[in-house]
Amino acid sequence: MEVYPIKAEQARTLRSAVLRPGLPMERSVYPQDDDPSTFHAGVYDGDTLIGVASVFNEAPSGEWPTTEWRLRGVAVLEAYRNRGIGEKMLGVCLAYVSEADGTKIWCNARERARPFYERLGFTVEGDLFEDPVSGPHFRMCKQLGKAPVGGWNPSAGSVGALLFPQSKEVMCATL
Ligand SMILES: CC(C)(COP(=O)(O)OP(=O)(O)OC[C@H]1O[C@@H](n2cnc3c(N)ncnc32)[C@H](O)[C@@H]1OP(=O)(O)O)[C@@H](O)C(=O)NCCC(=O)NCCS
Repeated sequence: MEVYPIKAEQARTLRSAVLRPGLPMERSVYPQDDDPSTFHAGVYDGDTLIGVASVFNEAPSGEWPTTEWRLRGVAVLEAYRNRGIGEKMLGVCLAYVSEADGTKIWCNARERARPFYERLGFTVEGDLFEDPVSGPHFRMCKQLGKAPVGGWNPSAGSVGALLFPQSKEVMCATL
């Protein structure tokens, strides 16, 4: 299985199924989904999309352009969890942001996903807050240096340090 750049509409199908089940697809459309700076990562098992994650050039205040990037729509089909797919997708997203000279990556993490993000070097910023649709969340963030990205060990997989924003068509990681 490999991590591929995918289109926003592909990411939405899995976002909707995993993160917004039972709600209309519009609830899984994010404002900058089709912006050229945005990157959507996807993992397939055969023809089936099983994991997605996206990064957006957006500061916590909503401002952009910025050197801060928002990680959003991170989802892996239940049957494929705990195999390292989430970690590999985030490694590619971090590499993308680092290559784009991002200084910080942040997300609103579901409380239950906190250990997953902590293991990848994210830290909690602020108090637990309630999302009306998806429950308790923490704001989490990770400061970024120049590539190689902290927490990502290229020898453990094969990415990504060579992933540049202008080469989204290039396959970017092998699990
Ligand atoms: C959060 C989520 C994306 C993680 O995806 P994943 O592919 O299971 O992630 P990983 O396999 O890299 O890591 C998950 C766990 O599996 C463990 N793991 C990783 N590789 C493993 C392997 N080869 N064998 C066994 N366990 C493994 C990790 O230790 C990790 O444990 P943790 O909970 O302490 O972090 C996934 O659980 C999910 O889609 N959840 C529902 C939606 C959601 O909450 N999304 C995040 C919104 S903020």
